[in-house]
Amino acid sequence: MSRNCIFRILLVLLLLLLMIVPNGSSVGVNWGTMATHQLPPEKVVKMLQENGFHKLKLFEADDRILEALIGTDIEVMLAIPNSMLFLMSQDPQAAASWVDSNVTAYTYHGGVKIKYVAVGNEPFLKSYNGTYLQLTLPALRNIQQALNDAGLGSKVKATIPFNADIYNSPDSNPVPSAGEFRPDVRDLAIEILHYLSINNAPFTVNIYPFLSLYGNDYFPIDFAFFDGTAYKPIKDRDLTYTNVFDANFDTLVSALAKAGYPDMKIIVGEVGWPTDGDKHANIQNAKRFNQGLLRHALSGEGTPARVGIIDIYLFSLIDENAKSIEPGSFERHWGIFEFDGKPKYELDLAGTEEEKGLIPVEGVRYMGKRWCVLNPNVNDWEGLADSVDYACSLSDCTALEYGSSCNQLTAQGNASYAFNMYYQVNNQKSWNCDFDGLAVVTQQDPSYGNCLFPIMIDYTSSSSSSSSFLVDERFFDLLVAIFMGIVVFLMVQYDQ
Ligand SMILES: *[C@@H]1O[C@H](CO)[C@@H](O)[C@H](O)[C@H]1NC(C)=O
Ligand SMILES: *[C@@H]1O[C@H](CO)[C@@H](O)[C@H](O)[C@H]1NC(C)=O
Ligand SMILES: *[C@@H]1O[C@H](CO)[C@@H](O)[C@H](O)[C@H]1NC(C)=O
Repeated sequence: MSRNCIFRILLVLLLLLLMIVPNGSSVGVNWGTMATHQLPPEKVVKMLQENGFHKLKLFEADDRILEALIGTDIEVMLAIPNSMLFLMSQDPQAAASWVDSNVTAYTYHGGVKIKYVAVGNEPFLKSYNGTYLQLTLPALRNIQQALNDAGLGSKVKATIPFNADIYNSPDSNPVPSAGEFRPDVRDLAIEILHYLSINNAPFTVNIYPFLSLYGNDYFPIDFAFFDGTAYKPIKDRDLTYTNVFDANFDTLVSALAKAGYPDMKIIVGEVGWPTDGDKHANIQNAKRFNQGLLRHALSGEGTPARVGIIDIYLFSLIDENAKSIEPGSFERHWGIFEFDGKPKYELDLAGTEEEKGLIPVEGVRYMGKRWCVLNPNVNDWEGLADSVDYACSLSDCTALEYGSSCNQLTAQGNASYAFNMYYQVNNQKSWNCDFDGLAVVTQQDPSYGNCLFPIMIDYTSSSSSSSSFLVDERFFDLLVAIFMGIVVFLMVQYDQ
């Protein structure tokens, strides 16, 4: 073999290695599990790996998910729900056993790469009326202390994901450089910053340009995106803002600087765009926003006030049909994947290409091709409205709302949609498609245009076949390895 060809082999191996090794500047994603029919965690984890996600945020320490993550290189931010803040704040022992069974148990070599613990979820949100104000810092302290005591303090940092309503600029001077923490929580925020800072932990914030648009009909639509032109940029001294994400982020940068922590690391714990449930929530806008966000955040250009890669976790991975819709009907449609793990649109996670597709969750099993619809032979619709309300209250009818994918249905179409959702989330039990004779099962898909009548995941049997899948995958990996071997061999031959 010539030197040249050895060099070539090394080059090919190096390239392969580069493709495998995760890079620090990748995008993270939030995986929420408030769904009636969840995908098997091991299948979702496989999909995460295939798509090249290296960072994950979980809202709760779910055993099944953590077990599926064992041995992967995915970095995890693991949250403690608000409902546990009281206990965590009052009892250092409880915090220690939370850390023990939910962190230490998994962070052994070759286990799960837990990197952050998120203490609470937006605990200072104005609409919580102060419920968690006095609990959050003591809980943060107890958790970080327990991590330190367990010898994990240098690797695992406790942080608090705040809603962006914790800071703002005064109405009299609405520019990012005037940003400050909300007066009612300012002193508390500064104490928290001090504690984060001495532990070298980041500040975490959730930023939602979609909500700027949702709450305000006068908001310039293009300013919510990263490639818009139809708006007036915000001029802030010598800085110019061309999108609301940067303006919001830099409002935080100013607030941190004024509090004495100008260099504190910022993680954007949630950011994204929903695809249904509002007139601005659709696939086109979601793709436009998320693709623009990824390009911008990963490019390293940073925001006007802070250069560098922006650390973001997309919200969210998969739709959750059991989330509260108090914030709005869009709340169940934040996923970049449908409830069944199908990608909703093309998205290049590296932020560079336009038309790069995502890889779906594979091997999903569905219930039979049956739908429940309004019985066409019934003429007396007595009690129909009540039945529809009942069906919707126990399933998910957000796609019927104004501006949503099924909003063009007739009143009868609405009834069929509601009956079907109820029937599907109840696993197609025949007695769940009756409604006093108003409903009937059909084998014909009632979907109409963009308005889909889904069939739920058959989760009773979908994980039982996993062992044969594993064999298939190993076999596939072997084929790939042999193929790569042949490629290298041919290159060497060609060279001689
Ligand atoms: C671990 O986390 C789970 C999920 O939040 C929780 O239910 C459980 O109580 C925690 N374990 C301990 C010992 O606190
Ligand atoms: C906060 O207060 C408002 C008005 O008093 C009330 O409607 C709401 O339910 C309260 N929320 C919580 C979480 O306590
Ligand atoms: C269908 O249901 C939605 C949501 O409840 C409602 O806004 C719409 O007006 C209904 N359509 C008809 C034709 O009744």
